[in-house]
Order: sequence, then structure tokens, then C-alpha cells
Amino acid sequence: MATWDLEGTKHHILICNGSTCTQHNADAVTQSIREAIRARNADATVHTTRTRCNGRCDDACVVIVYPQATWYGRMDCVDAQTFVAHVLDQRVMHTNATFVWGADGFAQTARAAPTGCKKT
Ligand code: FES
Repeated sequence: MATWDLEGTKHHILICNGSTCTQHNADAVTQSIREAIRARNADATVHTTRTRCNGRCDDACVVIVYPQATWYGRMDCVDAQTFVAHVLDQRVMHTNATFVWGADGFAQTARAAPTGCKKT
């Protein structure tokens, strides 16, 4: 296993590789995002991590960006170059954003799947 020096990292992209997202091309999404990062010579500032289920399977394939705190869904149909350009510019890619961070915490966008179960 690798141990990366994260000093200087500006963006962390979490790419869901849970079972549902894997059925929605998570591996291809992961590879295309990583290729887009390499193509922009942004490896030193963008860290990616494959995760297990993030609890939003109806939005598969799910990708999460920090510190912007933006969740994305249905990423199998996204141009990875465009997505990475948005991440590097700290812009939200509204076509696939499902939850965005605000003063009251996360707010669901119209792109998210139906509400899901309330946490108690
Ligand atoms: S498998 Fe990705 S959100 Fe559940």
C-alpha cells in the first residue's frame, strides 16, 4: 500500500467503488478522472481515493469533492476532463451536483435522486 505525502494537496476526490456504483461504471469513472488529473499535471494537488458505499446508491456512480464539500451523482455519463476542470477551479459542476454545502449544512439539488431515508 502507498503512503502519500499530502502536503500541498488542495482537492480530495472520493470515488465510490461500492457494489452499486461499481455496477454503474465506477472503475471507468475512477480511471477517467485519474487520467484527466494526469493530463492536467495536477497529481501533486489532487488526491483521489476509491471508497466503499457512501450511502447514496440511487445516485450511482457517486463522487465527492473536498474541501468544496460537493457530492455528485450519475458520474458515468460525465466528461472527466470537464469535471476535473471544475474541481481545479473550485466550481460546482451543476449538471451532476447532488448535494452542495451551505450555511445549514448539505442542501440537496434537483439532480439528486429522491430524498432517501432520513437519519434519526
Ligand atoms: S455503492 Fe456508491 S453510494 Fe452506495
